Amino acid sequence: MVAYIKENLFLVLTIVLLPFVVSSYGNFSMMVTKNEIDIICTKKDVNSSLCYELLKSIPKISALDFDGLTKFLIKYQSRNVSDALNQIKLSAGNATDLRTIDLCVQLYENTLYDTDHILKALAAKKYYNVSIYIIGLDANMDTCRDELVIMKPRLEVLIARNNVITNLSSIILFILDCYLAKEKEYC
Ligand SMILES: *[C@@H]1O[C@H](CO)[C@@H](O)[C@H](O)[C@H]1NC(C)=O
Ligand SMILES: *[C@@H]1O[C@H](CO)[C@@H](O)[C@H](O)[C@H]1NC(C)=O
Ligand SMILES: *[C@@H]1O[C@H](CO)[C@@H](O)[C@H](O)[C@H]1NC(C)=O
Ligand SMILES: *[C@@H]1O[C@H](CO)[C@@H](O)[C@H](O)[C@H]1NC(C)=O
Ligand SMILES: *[C@@H]1O[C@H](CO)[C@@H](O)[C@H](O)[C@H]1NC(C)=O
Ligand SMILES: *[C@@H]1O[C@H](CO)[C@@H](O)[C@H](O)[C@H]1NC(C)=O
Repeated sequence: MVAYIKENLFLVLTIVLLPFVVSSYGNFSMMVTKNEIDIICTKKDVNSSLCYELLKSIPKISALDFDGLTKFLIKYQSRNVSDALNQIKLSAGNATDLRTIDLCVQLYENTLYDTDHILKALAAKKYYNVSIYIIGLDANMDTCRDELVIMKPRLEVLIARNNVITNLSSIILFILDCYLAKEKEYC
């Protein structure tokens, strides 16, 4: 029996371990390749100049899988929300409509507060939850933008930053839907 196992150890190991090798090979193929970048950045609703500029600036993007890329993008977007929030606060001095400024400050702070939850949901591979959070983030940005565009004087820098944040969401949502979610309904 012992001899039998010894002789067949290679076979046994192969049979037991093969599924892991195969599926990690499967994972390996889910790295972010140049081809995937083209697919993502040329997608309708994705701001392609922003997308290429950003993804090409990530030093080791080919070593990332889609979870890793999504994590990177969520953190990047969160920094942009934080920068935009500071800019809004600084702009208060130039704005005549402080109600809009206060509303946007509130919405951006709520958005930042969610970042940890989003990253936790991502780590737990609750991609649906991540999508829900990102959609909520966009709703916050839209509510603020609707007021910013009618505020006089228009503070273009705030509008531009707000646009970039929602443009990042489109990239994140596309990756969630088409590479991470089990059911790729919207691809
Ligand atoms: C493949 O990747 C997923 C997500 O990163 C992970 O849960 C799974 O365990 C991996 N499979 C293998 C065999 O490495
Ligand atoms: C970027 O975001 C703005 C504001 O949401 C939107 O109007 C624009 O269509 C987006 N850009 C692209 C290329 O989708
Ligand atoms: C796309 O992103 C760039 C920043 O890379 C920005 O300047 C431009 O306004 C965005 N386009 C739209 C339609 O929002
Ligand atoms: C977004 O954040 C990145 C990284 O912090 C920064 O380089 C970029 O200028 C920001 N873009 C905007 C529009 O705030
Ligand atoms: C306030 O307005 C002045 C004059 O237009 C401009 O130079 C300055 O950058 C503005 N400050 C902020 C924080 O937007
Ligand atoms: C995901 O959403 C479900 C339903 O709303 C909730 O019960 C669960 O706690 C969430 N999980 C995470 C990790 O956010």
